[in-house]
Amino acid sequence: MRLNQIPFIVFLILMLPGCQNSQIKPKETTVIIADSSQPAALKRPDPHSYSRHDRVKIKHLDINLEVDFKDKVLAGFVTIDYEKIKPEASQLFLDTRDLKIKRITAVNDSNNPKLIWRYGQSHELLGKQLIIDLPDDGSAIKIQYQTMPKASGLQWLSPSQTNGKQPYLFSQSQAIHARSWIPLQDTPAVRVTYDATITVDRAVKPVLSADNNQQKGVDGVYKFSMPQAIPSYLIAIAVGDITHQKISEHVSIFAAPDVVEAAAYEFSETENMITATEKYYGSYRWGQYDLLILPPSFPFGGMENPKLSHITPTVIAGDRSLDSLIAHELAHSWSGNLVTNALWQDAWLNEGFTTYIESRIVDAVHGKERMVMEATLAYEALLNSMQELPLDQQKLINPTFSIDPDDYFSAVTYDKGRFFLDWLEQQVGREVFDQFLNMYFDQFAFQSITTAAFTQYLDDNLVKKYPEKISMKQVDVWLNEPGMPDFFTPPTTSQFDKIDQLVEAWLSNELQLTTAISRAWTTQEWLHFLRALPSQLTAEQLQLLDQTFSLTQRQNSEIAHDWLLISINNQYEVAYGRLITYLTEIGRVKLIKPLYEALMAQPALNNLAANIYQKARASYHPIATSQIDTIVGHNPDVSE
Ligand code: BES
Ligand code: ZN
Repeated sequence: MRLNQIPFIVFLILMLPGCQNSQIKPKETTVIIADSSQPAALKRPDPHSYSRHDRVKIKHLDINLEVDFKDKVLAGFVTIDYEKIKPEASQLFLDTRDLKIKRITAVNDSNNPKLIWRYGQSHELLGKQLIIDLPDDGSAIKIQYQTMPKASGLQWLSPSQTNGKQPYLFSQSQAIHARSWIPLQDTPAVRVTYDATITVDRAVKPVLSADNNQQKGVDGVYKFSMPQAIPSYLIAIAVGDITHQKISEHVSIFAAPDVVEAAAYEFSETENMITATEKYYGSYRWGQYDLLILPPSFPFGGMENPKLSHITPTVIAGDRSLDSLIAHELAHSWSGNLVTNALWQDAWLNEGFTTYIESRIVDAVHGKERMVMEATLAYEALLNSMQELPLDQQKLINPTFSIDPDDYFSAVTYDKGRFFLDWLEQQVGREVFDQFLNMYFDQFAFQSITTAAFTQYLDDNLVKKYPEKISMKQVDVWLNEPGMPDFFTPPTTSQFDKIDQLVEAWLSNELQLTTAISRAWTTQEWLHFLRALPSQLTAEQLQLLDQTFSLTQRQNSEIAHDWLLISINNQYEVAYGRLITYLTEIGRVKLIKPLYEALMAQPALNNLAANIYQKARASYHPIATSQIDTIVGHNPDVSE
């Protein structure tokens, strides 16, 4: 049966009694960006890219850039090897955003090296299409260019913003920011290998998502090579006062000198994580797996740049309780970096699979108890966020087009995707499912695929073999229906049940809060406890909680976040000092955005929000400020 025949059949089945899908009704319906470029965008092979890789495809990049901290620019050239897909093609279409193009030449044509080029279509988010007339001899193309200080994929930090003596630069290319620092075909459907020569001031060191030559570069010139073909969103650079420490066979920590020790302790399970993942899903194909600990303004938890994941320092908790993030970024070495979503609409193929594998790694290295607690926390958060999402966005295949690829990343992409794979595993058993995934990664290694390719593979290799356990109708419900399917059993854990009982007993005055009740609580139990508290607490209750458990003093970034949220919602002033430090020291969007939202939801705290933001904003990444400006009502054009 073809998948496009499914909706009608699903409709019939849903009409049967007892088969109603548990749809989550949104609180309010947000209007999805209705963009005038939408119809044109959908005619391109990838609507989020101006490249026409169906005509000419780039294959290899030779990147040669000098890092200029004073002017906040990267300047140099990139040489591009390409392949004609259509023999008659005469132009190369690339993506650029805020680049200054200086000169474009053919590498081998010494008689007439200069090539004719022009800009084509443009869009605020997508940047500008660069159209280059191909040289007759098919030789490589050299583009001399420089970036702009406002490049959306780069953050330039002054020494004072890194707690160090040196400035810092890092890139964040996913989803479509690589084009703001390299002209290329910025679509996950195209893979390239690359070489790079990076020139820096001698006091700092560059590291790339490539084989990092750890020897000191002569006169600040460093060479890198990335022999495995990767999509553009995985090209990454960081430059700063970066030292490294080897912690195991495949793993080194790259970090500022004052962070490297703590990180080495925190992430000591990384090698075991690699071993566990290889056992389930086949060999790790990238050689080294290093971790780069970024300054606290890094806007994400982690970014799976191949060979060198970028990691926020906010997961250094001192007790390894937040190292699931490493499991997650490592898991992308299979789901995402090896088998890649061809379009951003298919982001769940990257993030849902990765969240599933993350949980398997956590199970293997920290045990089932922690894995199930994390699953339960994620499930509760998923239900909460689905309350806010329009029905279309509750579907794994979101049918509403958005020009901003970030709109395809939500709790649905990550956790509904993950629970779908959990469910598949439960249907056929772990051993069979592991074998299936192992084959899947091998089959599609170093390729970019769509959801349709996955469902075809699933049908051929699992559903047809176990028709009594899984049907394509059920698969279709997971992919194309809102909410969670009725036939899914949510995770639960007795650990959290105990905490719920305790909270209830405390609220009905049957129990006194003492440190004894929380003595052996893990981070995950603390998070559940804080989330299980009623949203409105009295001043006495807040004081008692804080005095008993020293919550305002907590250094664990996740626990502190949840407590600060409670403090804001209940205007618990004692915690405001800690809130100010927290928001000025950390730039991870997941941790700071909810706090600004909570502050703005309380009219009495809007001034506090504005004051903190004024102080903190300069250290935040453009990805963070673009979101928080709107929340706080900050107009960037007025203040800069
Ligand atoms: N690839 C993502 C980060 C990302 C997604 C960057 C979309 C840009 C656009 C990364 O693997 C990720 O999911 N990070 C999470 C961590 C996680 C444990 C869920 C994060 O940063 O919070
Ligand atoms: Zn991820």
